[in-house]
Amino acid sequence: MRGAEHTWGLFLIWLAVGQSSYAQEVIFGSAHEASSECTTRDGNKGRCLDIRKCPKVQENFRTNPPTHCGFSGFSPVVCCPLSAEPVNEGPKDGDTVQLVDISPPDFAPGFECGVNSARRVSTLFQKRSVPTPDNFPHVRPTGLPDLSLLPVDGILAVLNQPKVPKFEGGLLKPSVVGGIDAKANAWPWMALLGNKENDGKYNWFCAGALINDQWVLTAAHCVDGTTLEVVRLGEHNYNSDQDGAKHVDFSIQQIIPHPNYTQPTAYHDLALLQLSRKVVFETFIHPVCLPWGEESERDLIGTQVKLTGWGDTQFLGSPSSILQEVDLTIFPNSKCEANYSRLRHYSISWPNGIGNETTCAGDEAGGRDACQGDSGGPIVYRSNGKYTINGVVSRGYGCGLKDYPGIYANIQYPDYLAWIKKTAF
Ligand SMILES: *[C@@H]1O[C@H](CO)[C@@H](O)[C@H](O)[C@H]1NC(C)=O
Ligand SMILES: *[C@@H]1O[C@H](CO)[C@@H](O)[C@H](O)[C@H]1NC(C)=O
Ligand SMILES: *[C@@H]1O[C@H](CO)[C@@H](O)[C@H](O)[C@H]1NC(C)=O
Repeated sequence: MRGAEHTWGLFLIWLAVGQSSYAQEVIFGSAHEASSECTTRDGNKGRCLDIRKCPKVQENFRTNPPTHCGFSGFSPVVCCPLSAEPVNEGPKDGDTVQLVDISPPDFAPGFECGVNSARRVSTLFQKRSVPTPDNFPHVRPTGLPDLSLLPVDGILAVLNQPKVPKFEGGLLKPSVVGGIDAKANAWPWMALLGNKENDGKYNWFCAGALINDQWVLTAAHCVDGTTLEVVRLGEHNYNSDQDGAKHVDFSIQQIIPHPNYTQPTAYHDLALLQLSRKVVFETFIHPVCLPWGEESERDLIGTQVKLTGWGDTQFLGSPSSILQEVDLTIFPNSKCEANYSRLRHYSISWPNGIGNETTCAGDEAGGRDACQGDSGGPIVYRSNGKYTINGVVSRGYGCGLKDYPGIYANIQYPDYLAWIKKTAF
């Protein structure tokens, strides 16, 4: 069934590596028989080629969008009409092509994701006017110290707070700054990650996002050297049982950090948690969508995203027991690269620079950001009425500093999607 029913059924990526026999053919993954033939939108025969090798499609890309075969890195592989002469750019003949499958998984019948339950509830009770998270009037003041003037080591000295996973590399582990209280259970994929202390109290130190009925996506640094025991879903105010939220706690069957996450570098800061039992979806417990297939190609620079978390509401402040939300803008990676590259720990954290595996998101004016305790939580954007995860809170320098947007693992990155699909779907 996979692939056959979707126009965009085959979202396979080429990763050109090495040089062995490859003769301008796309080799499809195991989901399909090897074939490079395709049909263009106007019904003609074509061949799947890297868009860089098909000038005809490049010329007419906007007015006449091509049929997709997959990706070559971030470059689309399109159905090139047979009459169009391929040019010798992009992957060279003789390159080995390794395919990565990021097509939408086979979901269980009725599977639904990315539904904001606050909206759903207000539809159910239409007469009542409930303020939606988007227009909730109360904005929390920030009062940030100007940390950009402090040396990194000076900040680290004051950062030595308990109850937060220790963060290596001299950069601070981010939480929501400049946010507002979320509407109860508006973000039904939000997960609290923590452990139970001897006095029976919970210690919540990270967040995550439910992605299907048994898996939660979070940051690798949230599970690295920590004693993660409990995942809580459906929570709103973790200090109150009168908050209207019906949370459910899960123990964890498997913790799988991204295999290439290596301290002290910042890359691949992702982990998957398999819950010990299946989640029963309810209005207030529901998964977020992942950017499968064509969605992974959507250009989100300049897009507004929503960050949600229970982390600190200001730098070196205290966490919020009520889920916070804040709007951020996605910046080009070059913005993060430009400023973070001035930091002393840059070459340790990003020896290969800040690239497409990273989402750089913040606030033009500063004051809105992730902060301590938000780590592992998602940033999401809205498209086609659903919320899709774009990033996982990884790190940042200070919180809410104008010149230092937050650093997120970019879930659009094909390697990450393929790993998530392989591991959790
Ligand atoms: C980890 O890195 C290796 C070497 O670059 C690569 O072949 C492998 O696919 C990566 N693993 C994942 C899960 O992306
Ligand atoms: C951050 O980068 C911007 C350009 O993107 C620059 O104007 C600003 O001065 C930089 N700030 C610091 C502290 O490096
Ligand atoms: C990163 O993404 C940008 C914009 O999509 C693209 O121009 C660039 O080639 C990509 N870089 C790599 C290394 O894939």
